[in-house]
This record gives sequence, structure tokens and C-alpha cells, in this order.
Amino acid sequence: MTAADPIPPTIEWRDGAVRMIDQRALPGRLAFLEARTVEEICDAIRTLAVRGAPALGVAGAMGMALAAVTGEDADGAAARIRATRPTAVNLAWGVAKGLAAADPVAEAVRLYADDIARNRRLGAHGAPLVPQDGRVLTHCNAGALACAGYGTALGVVRGAAEAGRRPSVWVDETRPVLQGARLTAWELDRLGIPSTLVADVMAGSLMAAGDVDCVVVGADRIAANGDVANKVGTYGLAVLAHHHGIPFYVAAPMSTVDRDCPTGAGIPIERRSADEVTSIEGHRIAPAGFAAENRAFDVTPAALVTAIVTEDGVLRPPYRFDLAAVTGL
Ligand code: MRU
Repeated sequence: MTAADPIPPTIEWRDGAVRMIDQRALPGRLAFLEARTVEEICDAIRTLAVRGAPALGVAGAMGMALAAVTGEDADGAAARIRATRPTAVNLAWGVAKGLAAADPVAEAVRLYADDIARNRRLGAHGAPLVPQDGRVLTHCNAGALACAGYGTALGVVRGAAEAGRRPSVWVDETRPVLQGARLTAWELDRLGIPSTLVADVMAGSLMAAGDVDCVVVGADRIAANGDVANKVGTYGLAVLAHHHGIPFYVAAPMSTVDRDCPTGAGIPIERRSADEVTSIEGHRIAPAGFAAENRAFDVTPAALVTAIVTEDGVLRPPYRFDLAAVTGL
């Protein structure tokens, strides 16, 4: 946390362990969790104590650092960490970085600092996309909590605020596990950026009323053709934005691009427990035993994405990531 940053580090290497904000406890409590073994970090990832694509990238590398420190077999640890969550390509990317490094601890610490620096650059590139007094709608949490720090979609909002554009944010609550209501709202409150929580299903009427100037979301994986996987509900927002002529921006570091995945059809979509849909924070809201489907992500076709904001600049269609230069990753 710098003097200017009211949000503590999401994940960091401290005294031979991985220290994370326990995101399951927010917004009620700012609690921290320590992982000292590969199994403990796998558990933190599976249960969403740490989540969000860039944060998972750092968690993957730090998991490999734990394997090195505890003397666990590196290949076995890599496979176990990668298997925890399939959609965010950053996780496998961070694991690969740790696996290839001569010093996995130093590499994990480097990736942590690098993520924050890249997000700050991304935010500065994206800031001009937000009009003066612009009303931004966002989904899920693509803020500091989803990264080592600063945020991607919320990084664009922060960049706009730092540039004096006075943005405000419509915060989708983001069912089923409410990352918007619990995490994005908590962050924006700490940052002092005006924001309003809305039920996911309200986006259409907000847009129809002319109350949304742009949509900015994060990404868990971007295919080589620009198709984007992100939290379920993102695709619906993109369709609505297109219908209403509202710009739809995706903000993500280049570590989220999967050049080996030609289109969104090849992106694995995580299926999570039905309990997340039939209950809210342990309180059942559906009849006992009722079937529920829980696809955690959806894919937005590149044709609906106005621009992709990265640390290297703002990219416009046609997206050809298979041809894009790799910048120091
Ligand atoms: O299931 P989650 O909370 O890990 O999903 C997170 C998202 O979908 C984010 O929008 C995405 O990871 C980008 S985070 C900068």
C-alpha cells in the first residue's frame, strides 16, 4: 500500500509465505490469510479467497515459490495449481513463469511488482476513453483485489479520476457470488469514487434511459481473434451495449491473451458448484435439491468489443493477437 493507495496488497510474498486478503470476508472484515504450502494456496484459489485473473497469475507464481521453499516436486505442484481454476489463462501463465525461473521466489516477487506497474500504465492508456463526468458500468470485480494492485477495469476508472475526469460507476452486483456488491463496491468506497450498486438485471434499463456512457470490464482470457472470456453476464452486457450504441471496453494486461487459442470457442469455461446459485452466503434461496447450472464465465465475441485496453495501449479491431509483439512478458 502506498500513501496514495487505500487498498492493501491483494497478495504478497512475506516471510516465506503467501499473504493474501481473504476476499471471502469482504466487505464485512478486512482479514488476511497465509498460505505456507502448495495445498494451502490451491485451497485459497478454489474457494475464491484470492481471485481475479491477474491476481491468479501472481498466485500461480507464488505457489511455485512455495513448492521451491517446501521442497515439493515442481511439475506435480504446477499441475495441481493449474487445475484449480481453468478459465483465467493468467494462472497457467504465472505457474509457467515460476516453473521456468532459476529462483521462483524472486520471480514471483518480480511478477507482483510488474503487475501493478502494468495496471497503472493500462489505466493511463484507458483514461481518455472515459468522457468528462462519464458514467461507467462495470461487472464483477476487475479492481485492485483482482490483481496484485490498482486494477484493470477499475484501473481505467482510477486513471480517469486521476486525470480529473470525475467518473462515476454503476456497479453490477454480479450474481452468483456477488463480486460487484462485495468487492467492487468496497474498493470504490475506499477510493472515494462516486458509485452506485445495481442489480445485474438493471443494465438494460439504465442504458435505455441514457444513463451509461461506457461499459468497462476485465477479462480472464482473450483469444487470438479478440474474443473475450469474463465473468458470466459480460456477454449479455456487450449485446445490450451494442444495441444501445454504447462503447464496450475490455481492460486486461497482455498476460491475459492466449495466442494459442484461436477463438473464444476454445476457452474452457469453469463450472462451479450449484450451491453458489441456490444459496446466497450460506442462506438457501431455492427449494432444497432444486437443480442449478453455474457456468462462471461467458465469451463475448470480438465483434462486440469496441476496444481492448492493455498496458501497451488501446487496441481496436480487427484484433490479431497471434501477430502482436510481446512486450517483456
Ligand atoms: O471468478 P472470479 O472472481 O475470479 O472472476 C473474475 C473476473 O471475471 C474478472 O472480471 C477477471 O478476472 C478480470 S480481473 C482484472
